Amino acid sequence: MSLRIAPSVLAADFGRLREQAEAVRAAGADLVHIDVMDGHFVPPLSMGPQVCTALRDLGMHLEVHLMVERPEREQIAAFADAGAQTIIVHAEATPAVHYALQAIRDRGALAGLAVNPATPIGVFGEVEVDLALCMTVNPGWGGQSFIPASLAKLERLRALLGPEVEIEVDGGIDAETAGACARAGATRFVAGTAIFGAPDPAAAFAAINGALQAVEV
Ligand code: DX5
Ligand code: ZN
Repeated sequence: MSLRIAPSVLAADFGRLREQAEAVRAAGADLVHIDVMDGHFVPPLSMGPQVCTALRDLGMHLEVHLMVERPEREQIAAFADAGAQTIIVHAEATPAVHYALQAIRDRGALAGLAVNPATPIGVFGEVEVDLALCMTVNPGWGGQSFIPASLAKLERLRALLGPEVEIEVDGGIDAETAGACARAGATRFVAGTAIFGAPDPAAAFAAINGALQAVEV
């Protein structure tokens, strides 16, 4: 499975959102990661479906990470309608995980399931997912440090899921931690601060990509 970077626009300059997305697209990015926070599941508020609408004509795959409680009640439909192609819900955010994943597929999107650092991976033995997101920080904020225990968790998750399922990591990902996560079984790498917090986001994207290519060969 190819290793892909998903730049998280949470760390972008929102006054220049399209320009920043275009810059990483020019560097080779074909995915954008959109972090949605509701002020309940995580303390901050972030962005709504309008951000998908604003970016949907760029030709990049829009991946929406819903850090919201009970996403099946409203937000899955709203983001699918706005152009989200992968929608990720949290195992801790709803008692109806299976229903939420089905609701995503019913809307024509790929279904992702995320687990927080302290959440066991066993839920992935109970449902089918297109993408498993292993949080490598506690959700809610960009710019946190990667949690080293995530590497052993990734190895267990890869053993549980087999080789075919996409495993994504999110939080504290840079060229160094991305390489370590790839060796532990991750195939998709969310990076916010390491890309958009850098003076040249395209160069920062290329640096992470270079580290991943070194693992892939
Ligand atoms: C955290 C979000 C992340 C965030 C990562 O709750 O889910 O996607 O943007 O930010 P960095 O790469 O700065 O750790
Ligand atoms: Zn995220």
